[in-house]
Amino acid sequence: MIEVSNLKIQYANRRPVVEDFNLSVKAGQIVSIVGESGSGKSTVLRALLGALPENGKVTAGDIRFEGESILGYSKKEWQQYRGKKTAMIFQDSGAMLNPIRKIGSQIVEYLRLHEKLSKDEAWEKGKEALSMVRLPDSDNTMKAYPFELSGGMRQRVGIAMAMALNPGLLLADEPTAALDVTTQAQIVRLMLELMEKQDAGIVMVTHNLGVAAYMSDYILVMQNGKIVESGKAMEIVQNPQSDYTRTLIETVPRLGGKRYV
Ligand SMILES: Nc1ncnc2c1ncn2[C@@H]1O[C@H](COP(=O)(O)OP(=O)(O)OP(=O)(O)O)[C@@H](O)[C@H]1O
Ligand SMILES: [Mg+2]
Repeated sequence: MIEVSNLKIQYANRRPVVEDFNLSVKAGQIVSIVGESGSGKSTVLRALLGALPENGKVTAGDIRFEGESILGYSKKEWQQYRGKKTAMIFQDSGAMLNPIRKIGSQIVEYLRLHEKLSKDEAWEKGKEALSMVRLPDSDNTMKAYPFELSGGMRQRVGIAMAMALNPGLLLADEPTAALDVTTQAQIVRLMLELMEKQDAGIVMVTHNLGVAAYMSDYILVMQNGKIVESGKAMEIVQNPQSDYTRTLIETVPRLGGKRYV
């Protein structure tokens, strides 16, 4: 579905922040990217979404979605790509919502930007999406302001919006980092369920190697803009090859003396 080859990304004319990055994700697969702060994880995800900041640029390599390079997309193709073919879930979905507008009107606007729907149709579709992520009372949630929801509920709204258009590829940047452990587990399970239902591929960035091992088929370990190790999730966790990966595993918190990776 998405194939990334020898990707190099630079901000302004500074030295590359991502180099020789390779990734392949097929429908129904989950790939996690783990690595220290500043190693280039979010930069990679933004490039996959085609949304690098103004000063960021892919300076070598290619990103192909369903066989076609996204780097040469026209404005119209970008608009179809983002939202419909691929969508992003952020660490804090609350931050992407407008605080002074009700959830429902924001969802309606988002859906109508991408699909030809009347306001009523978009409202119904929005409600369906909210009940898919098990927001208990979707009618009330549609009528609520973002601040009236808990962090976990806002994250569900973000996931609902991302999944509502059935994108083939879901990009998630630390989707559970801002949540408490119980809510984290619920959100992880929800993403897995939705992914199976829609047969999407997922690329997820996480600091939590435990979450990565539990959720993913493959793990990429990044350090300083480069992949230092990649492979099947279980193999990486059980038989890490690089010192850096071993350090990451050592730092996964132990619960009751047992390490959950
Ligand atoms: N807009 C920008 N302009 C210039 N440099 C940037 C910009 N965004 C990120 N960088 C630099 O690129 C490098 C990679 O940053 P990135 O945000 O991709 O790291 P990350 O792995 O996501 O880190 P974290 O785990 O803290 O989120 C860092 O050195 C960062 O300073
Ligand atoms: Mg980041």
